Amino acid sequence: MNIKLAVIKGDGIGPEIVTGALKVLDKIGEVYSHTFSYDFVDAGGISIDKYGIPLTDEALKTCLDSDSVLLGAVGGPKWDTLPGNIRPERALLALRKELGLFANIRPAKLYSEFKNASPLKKEITDKGIDMVIVRELTGGIYFGERGRRDGGPNGQVAYDTEMYSVMEVERIAHVAFKMAMNRSKKVANVDKANVLESSRLWREVIHRVAKEYPEVTVVDVLVDNMAMQLVKNPRQFDVIIANNMFGDIISDEAAQIVGSIGLMPSSSLGESGRGMYEPIHGSAPDIAGKDIANPIATILSLAMMLRDSFGLIKEAEAIEKAVDIVLKKGHRTRDILDNDTEPVGCKKMAELICNEIK
Ligand code: IPM
Ligand code: MN
Repeated sequence: MNIKLAVIKGDGIGPEIVTGALKVLDKIGEVYSHTFSYDFVDAGGISIDKYGIPLTDEALKTCLDSDSVLLGAVGGPKWDTLPGNIRPERALLALRKELGLFANIRPAKLYSEFKNASPLKKEITDKGIDMVIVRELTGGIYFGERGRRDGGPNGQVAYDTEMYSVMEVERIAHVAFKMAMNRSKKVANVDKANVLESSRLWREVIHRVAKEYPEVTVVDVLVDNMAMQLVKNPRQFDVIIANNMFGDIISDEAAQIVGSIGLMPSSSLGESGRGMYEPIHGSAPDIAGKDIANPIATILSLAMMLRDSFGLIKEAEAIEKAVDIVLKKGHRTRDILDNDTEPVGCKKMAELICNEIK
């Protein structure tokens, strides 16, 4: 296959982890005879520095013209005091919206080697954790009407609006139910239907769509209870569906539960095959440029890309297997160091993974 990717290295450790990941992708190209070409795109803080805005029209166009987008990470303290509409994070939100990427898939799986890195009890981690969060990504309060106005004697008032249409809930519901059909046929629906009208509509639609998947069992879990259940026993869940904000929050919780955020990939998908793939961790400005970041989450995001956007199953498995072998051999970057070996750097980790792709 000939595959044209838009590549956003972004800020902080973004450039290092993406460079490492592309080495792995090139190796896949070599071994399996595919050609990957890369259009590098500035977005986030680097774009603010160069052009004054987090995402230029040209950058967006390159992404729209690509077969898929690979993203490292955006943001950093340097841009933290800018007004909301020109912060680096806007680039991410705009890309998701403009590319129509309404479904964010975040697998949370505990690697057996990292059982001790999970804060949960041994009785639970010994049995393994393997769930996936399906987060709605282009609606809800992150995109709703917002603003400030004069609140009279109480001072200024600020507001953000949570709003979902039936269509928006339906399409994300189908993603979750289809996924459940390929897994253990269980969906946990997260909402706050005891308080929010938007959640009541959300829940209604989830159950209506569920009727099309009679083999799948659905349980409703209020978001506050979900926060608690996840740390009590995440093994009761398999596919978890949530709106944009709740999904954002519980996916960080899930990442911590499985021990290392440095290992967690994600995909963002829409109606077309084109997706955006990125590690779920951020730009880690404190360790940027030191060659100590962990490139594995980005590398595993490429595996998701090969499988979900291009149907290249063998190739995706080759990456996942290579990562597994390298971890089993005991190689660790600093963030996941759990043995007394010397940690390897970002470049070296990518190279070790490349060497296991044959
Ligand atoms: C994430 C991040 C983003 C989000 C931020 C950086 C806008 O936290 O991908 O989870 O809230 O979606
Ligand atoms: Mn987040």
